[in-house]
Amino acid sequence: MSFCFNFDVPTQSVNSDQASGPESQICKKVNAAPTNKDNTKPAEPVKEAKEHHLPSDPQFLLVDAVPETVTIGSLPPLHFLNETVFEKTASEREDDENILSRTSEQRSDLISGVYEGGLKVWECTYDLLELMERDGETFGGKAVLDLGCGAGLLGILALKRGASHIHFQDYNSTVIEQLTVPTVILNCQEDDDIDSEDDKEGRGNGKLQEEESCGKTLKEKEALRDGSTPPKRRAIDLSQHPLLSKCRFFSGDWSTFLDLVLKESSPPKYDIIFTSETIYNAAYYPTLHETLHKLLAPDGLVYLATKSHYFGVGGGLHLFETFVEQRGTFSVDHLWEGEEGLQRHVVVLRFKKTNAI
Ligand SMILES: C[S@@+](CC[C@H](N)C(=O)[O-])C[C@H]1O[C@@H](n2cnc3c(N)ncnc32)[C@H](O)[C@@H]1O
Repeated sequence: MSFCFNFDVPTQSVNSDQASGPESQICKKVNAAPTNKDNTKPAEPVKEAKEHHLPSDPQFLLVDAVPETVTIGSLPPLHFLNETVFEKTASEREDDENILSRTSEQRSDLISGVYEGGLKVWECTYDLLELMERDGETFGGKAVLDLGCGAGLLGILALKRGASHIHFQDYNSTVIEQLTVPTVILNCQEDDDIDSEDDKEGRGNGKLQEEESCGKTLKEKEALRDGSTPPKRRAIDLSQHPLLSKCRFFSGDWSTFLDLVLKESSPPKYDIIFTSETIYNAAYYPTLHETLHKLLAPDGLVYLATKSHYFGVGGGLHLFETFVEQRGTFSVDHLWEGEEGLQRHVVVLRFKKTNAI
């Protein structure tokens, strides 16, 4: 999406290598998070959490979708929605979030307490995917949370790699309903399409990935070229899809999300928590830390991908690590550092031996 992180960065304070990068996601204007004076709590009322259930006919969510695919090494191909088309076709939900119009009016990647950036895929998500490819994390039978998921590609990887439960959480209900759920469905559907075309035509997976690279099958592309009507995709009863039945979707602030899931008769404990580009605002650290503390399984891992510093909002890895160290609950290990553009990192948090609950 072509929005910018609305950070008020004095130009001279950003050196060129900090401000560059494939998609710097940094712009000149800033709308820093409204916080209390002590910068410990968001000033906006927290957004109530809720669970989103799949509609009975989830297929209609993809009517306007133009899929794209990212393939990283041996990872299964991950499909996501073309951002430009999404931006043009997504419709505002009938609630008071109105984030599609608000973000486009303000051309902002973040309106703190209103919109927390989930409508696009952020670059640290790709860093974490690369790390998963490099280190070969296993997901079989594990419970996974994609915390602050946006499109949800990290959770989708876990889903495709055999996780037993995958929960997706994003601040905004619009993100969950318009982007996360459709992206998860797209991945279930596209895999079924690929499987069925493979069955019919005996083609290898690699070739098909290439042909599917812009989300169209060969027959659909041929039809587009000669102007005829593209063949209809097989109608698949997605509501019964075995992968979808492993997924749950939540919106809302981390504190209310935590309350919501802790009320359940058997509250979840996650073996793996993914969280990418979620530590930009130090005001949210207490609730983020509490969420990780209460929801991580005793031997679980939190994979956190982040930039060194988020100009204008002020958070970043050093501040978060200091916070975590002061709490004394988790140890932090650095797994990967990127040198291009804004410095980026992937770290893993695990309970110090005496702190798991
Ligand atoms: C910059 S986006 C990153 C989205 C996605 N993880 C990615 O890498 O593409 C930050 C995400 O953090 C989540 N987030 C930030 N602050 C939050 C809060 N206080 N409560 C709940 N979620 C929050 C939002 O859901 C938002 O989607």
